[in-house]
Formats: sequence, structure tokens, C-alpha cells
Amino acid sequence: MLTAYDHPTARILDNAGIDTILVGDSLGPVVLGYPNTIPVTIDEMIHHTRAVARGLKRALLIIDMPFMSYQESIEQAKRNAGRMFKESGAEAVKLEGGVTMKDTIKAIVDMDVPVCAHIGLTPQSIHRMGGYKVQGKGKDVERLIEDAKAVEAAGAFMVVLECVPRQLAKEITEMLSIPTIGIGAGPDCDGQVLVIHDLLGLLGDFRPKFVKQYRNLTEDIDKAVKEYIDEVTSGTFPDDSQSFH
Ligand code: KIV
Repeated sequence: MLTAYDHPTARILDNAGIDTILVGDSLGPVVLGYPNTIPVTIDEMIHHTRAVARGLKRALLIIDMPFMSYQESIEQAKRNAGRMFKESGAEAVKLEGGVTMKDTIKAIVDMDVPVCAHIGLTPQSIHRMGGYKVQGKGKDVERLIEDAKAVEAAGAFMVVLECVPRQLAKEITEMLSIPTIGIGAGPDCDGQVLVIHDLLGLLGDFRPKFVKQYRNLTEDIDKAVKEYIDEVTSGTFPDDSQSFH
């Protein structure tokens, strides 16, 4: 699984053979310049997911439910999950939370909207958690196991485990019958997810420990733009081959 937020990226990932694309609410910090995921709106999620959906031929498409689109009540969660599912072209929704979200997950699944759960570090709760910290350590181990069991029992078809110690992620993966998708949860999950901008080196120097940067496109783009500026100022672009006769 990888994230995507726009049409050309979605086409490239789909053609490359990625199984699942997530339009994450990481849209906020990664693409829209927000400080975190909390300000992201339903309309922004739908807008970007529609663009991604138009670029896909085969990958499964999941849309993230943003903060305050499902926390208020089960009725609110059903209404917004239904709207996001209907209007975005996504085939499933994702929401954050374990035991506390089990009734909400069940209610959405009962409407025939598939739900991907997300437990461990849940970025919408970042202020309660006191920062982007590894979860499921010490006395929190039991709580995370309960969260994993609860989302499976509620009918989630898949669960993202974010920033969970490797051994605990392995135990949860062995315990559950639904697939676990890890991000900062070690190699023993059933699948992995990364933010595409992290993988491509588009987010500057800060890199969480769990990210592997496969390319540095910031450097490539910087080089390309500087070449363009040089060639336009020196008059070597455009030349005859880029001109009409
Ligand atoms: O919003 C997001 O991109 C996510 C993934 C990192 C799992 O939730």
C-alpha cells in the first residue's frame, strides 16, 4: 500500500503494480501545508480521492475519514462514511481507533461500506498522545491487543498498525485473521504502507526512522528547475526543435 493524492501519481502507482492506494488524511501535512492531519475536511478528502480514482485501473482505493467526521456519533459516522464512499470513488474507508470505535466500525460495515481500521499511533489523537511516539510499550501492550481484537470483531477487513514495536506487531499479525498493514511496525505485518512523498524524498530532510527513502526527487527537481532557469536566461531553451514552423 502507498498513499496518493493526485491523478498522475495514482496512474504511476497503479501501472507499477501497487495493490492498494490510500488517500490518507496525511493529505493535510504532505500536500496542503497544514501542520498536521487535524484540519483536513471531508470535502478536501473527496476532491483528492476523486482525482486518484480517475487514475486507477486495478488497485484497491481507500479513503481516510478526517478528524470530526466520525467521532461525534454513530449516526454522523454512517452519514459521512456513506457520503465519502458514494462521492469519492473509493472502495473502502479508513478510520482511526480501536475499542472505542468498535460500534462505529460495525455500523459502517453493516451499511456494506468496507472499513480499514488504524490503531497504534493514530495521528488525529496526536495532542492526547503527546507527539508522534511509538505505541504499545509497557502497560499499553494489552490495550493495543484489545484494540486489534476489537476492530477485527467489529468487521474491519484490514488494519493499519502504526509505530508499534516489531514483536508486538508480529504477535497481533499472528493473532488476527484480517491482514495487518504496518508503518513503523516492522517486517512481520502482512503488508506495508508508506507515504509516497517520503518514499520519493519530497519532504525535505526530516525522515521518521521507519521511512526508507528510495529516491531523492527533491534533488532531481531542484536540478531540473535550475537547468530550466539557466537555459531560458541564456537563450538555449527553446531552440529550433521546440519551435513551430
Ligand atoms: O494518512 C495517512 O497517510 C495514513 C497512513 C500513513 C497509514 O494514515
